[in-house]
Amino acid sequence: MQNNLLAGKKGIIFGALDEKSIAWKTALQCHAAGAKLVLSNAPVALRMGEINKLADATEAPVVGADVTNMDDLKKLFEEAQKHFNGGVDFILHSIGMSLNVRKGKSYTEIDYGFNQKTLDISAMSLHRVLRTAWDMDAINEWGSVVALTYIAAQRVFPDYNEMADAKALLESVTRSFGYHYGVRKKVRVNTISQSPTRTTAGSGVKGFDGFVNYAEKMSPLGNASGDACASYCVSLFSDLTKYVTMQNLFHDGGFSFTGVTQAVIEQMEK
Ligand SMILES: NC(=O)c1ccc[n+]([C@@H]2O[C@H](COP(=O)([O-])OP(=O)(O)OC[C@H]3O[C@@H](n4cnc5c(N)ncnc54)[C@H](O)[C@@H]3O)[C@@H](O)[C@H]2O)c1
Repeated sequence: MQNNLLAGKKGIIFGALDEKSIAWKTALQCHAAGAKLVLSNAPVALRMGEINKLADATEAPVVGADVTNMDDLKKLFEEAQKHFNGGVDFILHSIGMSLNVRKGKSYTEIDYGFNQKTLDISAMSLHRVLRTAWDMDAINEWGSVVALTYIAAQRVFPDYNEMADAKALLESVTRSFGYHYGVRKKVRVNTISQSPTRTTAGSGVKGFDGFVNYAEKMSPLGNASGDACASYCVSLFSDLTKYVTMQNLFHDGGFSFTGVTQAVIEQMEK
């Protein structure tokens, strides 16, 4: 999609692991919309090397940062400010990881050590990113920060496990920091609550295929794709959405407000 919605804007994109990643698709669309980018991911993810393809396609440097490490984040913002010759206009936080899911532990038997790490990587990392930017005054006025979340923060999806709690915390940090950054510098902070999408993180959820098919049947518009999510991110980074902040924005084809659909009733009658 080619437009000039982000002409002159500079942004950091966290979380592009491979072509399926929502962050990958968002980086491509931001670039096409005229933005200058810095890409970041955890050092261990960078070792896969995939991100170099995206770096070429978007003419962006890659700076490694583990989002749970404040020194890494400080270095990332320093590099970004150097590259941009100034502040940042937008940030995509597209990061999630559940250690208990990885280790096959169900919600009722989680390991609390793993759980702390999950909450740090998947939720408090947004606070860490915003705090680093805040301390360095690294986000420009009317800047826009978007993090990705899932409806399991509000409704129970049993196999989403501890990530449900992580997403609830992420959405709360969005509101709380969004307030402070709004007052201080008119920076807006929002979450997008995305349909289930076939990515590495998504596929880690137990029974993911059933999950995707159910959501498809329960959404009047069908599931929102990763590409559609990327377009929504572009709109939120643009000046067309300047007064949207501290919101959890459902991007799910209507799933969140649908009680039942004809397709599901027909399935149940079989
Ligand atoms: N795929 C879905 O169904 C879906 C639905 C709703 C929301 N989301 C959210 O979208 C976001 C992006 O996920 P995705 O589906 O594109 O999958 P993905 O696996 O492509 O992206 C997750 C990213 O998190 C990064 N990450 C993990 N630990 C990190 C750390 N310590 N420091 C820095 N980065 C780290 C990974 O390297 C990876 O790039 C996540 O927040 C996810 O929860 C996904």
